[in-house]
Amino acid sequence: MISIDPAAQGDRDNYKLLIGSVVPRPIAFVTTLSKQGVLNGAPFSYFSIVSSNPPLLSVAVQRKNGVMKDTARNAVATGELVIHIVDETNVAAINETAANLPPDESEITIAGLTATESEKVNVPGIAESKIRMECVLEQALELGGTGGSPGCDLLIARVVRFQIAKEILENGRIDAQKLAPVSRMAGNFYSSLGSLFEIERPQ
Ligand SMILES: Cc1cc2nc3c(=O)[nH]c(=O)nc-3n(C[C@H](O)[C@H](O)[C@H](O)COP(=O)(O)O)c2cc1C
Repeated sequence: MISIDPAAQGDRDNYKLLIGSVVPRPIAFVTTLSKQGVLNGAPFSYFSIVSSNPPLLSVAVQRKNGVMKDTARNAVATGELVIHIVDETNVAAINETAANLPPDESEITIAGLTATESEKVNVPGIAESKIRMECVLEQALELGGTGGSPGCDLLIARVVRFQIAKEILENGRIDAQKLAPVSRMAGNFYSSLGSLFEIERPQ
């Protein structure tokens, strides 16, 4: 084994080890509204379920030189966000939304995505997604960082409404093949669903 001390190497090297090790990562496409009403959208692969009861999701938004990204700033300011699951049909457009735009420009318009009204929150979602989860911000935690400024905003979001495309839902279960989720690997690589296999859980 090669032993590596994260404190003895740069941020970039630690980043490469982490994004190459924790694979494949599901991708959340997160929409938020700025205080001025601009609809913001960006993908995040530091994304997971925190709890199913209550239904909580986590999205970790890295800061740049201590500065919050628009997604974190908007979610904290408005208390709302919509989380979408990225799939094979929308990944190319969603990749476009990762561009570094000023807060008054909408990535949604630039990527040719269609805003669609939500039922339980003020933030619209996008129509090009088979799963939309309308969320309220449960907690935002400022974590890590050096020199007194945090390195990341961990958003904990509570799902208040699921919006699921009819064709992927059967008996309350999501059909993974029909969803065709896409995940993030290292570098600019993405991956689609591989072969599925089943292992019985022991009693
Ligand atoms: C597939 C993909 C996954 C990403 N995952 C993350 C992530 O987990 N955390 C993060 O801070 N940035 C991530 N990024 C970069 C953000 O999407 C990018 O910084 C974006 O411009 C942030 O937008 P905002 O400033 O509108 O919030 C990812 C980018 C791509 C293309």
